[in-house]
Parts: sequence; structure tokens; C-alpha cells
Amino acid sequence: MSERLAIQGGTPTVPPGIQQVWPRILPEDKAAVMAVLDRGIIGGADAPEATALQQEFADYIGARYCLATNSGTSALQLALLALDVSPGDEIITSAFSFSASALAILHANAIPIFADIDPRTFTLDPKHVEQLITPRTRAIIPVHIHGLPADLDEIRAIADRHGIPVIEDACQAHGATYKNRRVGALASMGAFSLNYTKSLPGGEGGFFVTNDEALVERANRFRIFGERSDRLDDELFRPYHSYVIGWNHRSQEMPAAFTRSQLRRLDENNARAASNAAILTEGLKDLPGIQPPHVPADRTHTFQKYRVRLYPEQMGLDIDPQRLRNMLLRALRAEGVEAVLWHTTPLPAYPLFQQRTGYGGQFPWTVPPASRDITYDPNAYPEATSLLHGSLLLGSERYPLSGQDATVMTYVLEAVHKVYAGLEELVAAEKV
Ligand SMILES: Cc1ncc(COP(=O)(O)O)c(C=O)c1O
Repeated sequence: MSERLAIQGGTPTVPPGIQQVWPRILPEDKAAVMAVLDRGIIGGADAPEATALQQEFADYIGARYCLATNSGTSALQLALLALDVSPGDEIITSAFSFSASALAILHANAIPIFADIDPRTFTLDPKHVEQLITPRTRAIIPVHIHGLPADLDEIRAIADRHGIPVIEDACQAHGATYKNRRVGALASMGAFSLNYTKSLPGGEGGFFVTNDEALVERANRFRIFGERSDRLDDELFRPYHSYVIGWNHRSQEMPAAFTRSQLRRLDENNARAASNAAILTEGLKDLPGIQPPHVPADRTHTFQKYRVRLYPEQMGLDIDPQRLRNMLLRALRAEGVEAVLWHTTPLPAYPLFQQRTGYGGQFPWTVPPASRDITYDPNAYPEATSLLHGSLLLGSERYPLSGQDATVMTYVLEAVHKVYAGLEELVAAEKV
């Protein structure tokens, strides 16, 4: 007889109040923000905090150039605009990502083309990417999902063969390494998010990064109203002339100061996430049917999210993976575990990509040639679909692994083992 589960009226395993809310905010973070207010400069592209942050982050990842932006989405958009993409151009990205990876493509007036994922790493499958390339493909955006770098060498090799650039969506992967180098500037351009849920939180914000002088110059123009960036800080004679349809994607000083302070602890926080992930992975290894995240030997994972895959047949259960997932989710949460789902379908299944516009399925806000008819088949991404149906996250955006003490992991494992032992009974109870 297994111990009574909390969902069946037993005592929850994880003591209330022991999990720490993200981000961890220390006195030095507060002092950094107060110093901005004391200085009295709260915005501006050449303002001191933004300028210092750009340099410090560029140094941190080993990039030549970094522009602070108001979000990761806008950083991605700037990368595409810097390439001068035209309406109807196709940009390949991952079917499994946050919506913004695809929205930024639409914001640049281009068409997202989704590739399926590798079932072990959950990142873009290079073989599928290759099949999707057409004469209209203008860029590939691999996503370092959950903090694990994508197969950059394979993707760059495909891109090089076709003469197209690669843009890293590193919004979830600050400090992750691929072949001993931090991701972000390992391809043409990269984008990071500083959203409050990220490993480097700033409230909201982002970075555009590159090693290419011409691209940073173009991105900067689009970042600030389409103006020439070399005249922006001319107090007397800034011309204010727009040369292209620019946006206002600048950062702000208070978030920049907060982010600078957090950047000093990024490695420490990533190390805490990695050691907590190691505790979970070790503790789950005796549970057939629960597979911890896979990390290839040539890269490091920052575990912004820790996703476990579920295989009911390996648990000896005759149940649909989605039902098992939901059952586990409810039972773990009742035990006090911060288990969540995050996205539950691949991006092409979103209503945005399923609507018919009257233009043969074309997007109304792009102007593709009349012969173009983009339709998204939600069933064309079997790996992403099966992952999202049969997996869940341990730790949430509010309580990620990076913010928790190791004791929390011990309780989480205790709860997972307890629920695992009671699963057969739970399944049977549900079937009645
Ligand atoms: C993979 C990915 N891409 C893009 C973004 C967009 O970043 P932001 O929210 O800063 O616009 C996010 C996060 O929100 C993300 O997780």
C-alpha cells in the first residue's frame, strides 16, 4: 500500500513557503535602481546604465556589439530588419518555442516556416530545416529552448550551403555554452530577453548581439526611429531624420541598472540551476517512464526550464500520455510541487496560424506574391506535438530551479516518488 497522496487527502510533501520567488532581489539590486533615480537620467540610448550594460553583456558572451532593447521580441525583429527581409520572405524557426519567435518574423513582414524538433534536445531538427529551404528562405532562427543550445554546427552548415544567415534565439539561454563558447554571437546575430522570468531578469528588456559592424549599424537604425545612429547623441545638431521605418525599441535606465546588478550573479544562479537539475536527474533515474532532460556532451544547459518526458508504457500503464501528464500535474501540485505545463501545442497550431484570411490563407499584413498560399498543418510536427502532450516542467517561471535551495529538490523528488508509487491506484480510480 503506497502512502496516501495529497490529492487523495494525504499530507502534502513540500512544506509551504520554502520555495523562493524569482528573481532573487538583493540589497545591491535595490541600490543600483536607487542610484539611477539619484542620478536623474532615466532613459536614452546613450544613457550610462544602458551603455555600460551593453558593454558588460557583450564582454560576457564574447560578442563585439550589443544593443539594449525593450524586449527579446524586438531584438529578434531588429535582427530580421537588419537583413532587409522583404514581404513574402521565409524565415525558418522551431515549431516548439515561445510565440514571439514567430511573431517577430511577422513583425518584420516575413513568413514563419516551422521545422519540427529533435525529440531528445527539443531544439530545431536540422534534417527538417534542410527539407524546408526554398529560394525564398532568408534566415534560420534556431531557438535555444529552456536554456539548451540548438545544434548550431549542423544548422550553420546548412545555412552556409544555401548562403543564408542564422539568428540565435537565445532568449532563454543566457550563459549557456556550445563547444565551450557562450551562445548568442556564435552565428550572424542573436537575441536575448530580459523579461522577469528569465535567467537574467530585468523586468522587461532584451539584447541584440552580433559581431558584424554593418548589421549592428542597421539594427540600431531600426531601433531608434530609423535615424542615423552616429548623430543621435549630438545634443545641438541631432537631425532627427528618419531614413527607414524605424521603431522605438530602446531600453530604460532602471531596468538596465537592475540587470547590470543581476548580471554579476548570473553565473552563480546558473550554477545553482545546474546543480539542482543534477539532483533531480539523479533522483529520477530509478523511475522508468520519467525521462529527465538530455544534455549533449558538447554543450551546457542553463535549465531556465526543466522538462521531464513521460512514457506511460514504460510505467506499465495503459493510458494516453496527455491524460497521464494531467493526472501527474494535479497530483504533484497537490503535493506542493511547482509543476507546470507552459506551452501545450506547437506554434503552428495557434489560432493565429490557423485562420483563413480570404486571401487563400495568406497573412493579410504581408504582401506575398499572389501565388503564395501558406497554410499550417498542425499535424505536421509530430515530435513537438508528442513532446508537449507527454511532458511537464518541474519548477515554474515564478519558482525556477535557479532560485531554489537544494533542499527544495529533495522534497520535489520525495513528492515525485510518492506520486509515482500511487500512480496505478490513481489511474484505476480515474477509470471507475
Ligand atoms: C524563446 C523565446 N523567444 C523570444 C522571447 C521573447 O522575449 P520577450 O518576452 O522579452 O519579448 C521569449 C520570452 O519571452 C522566449 O522565451
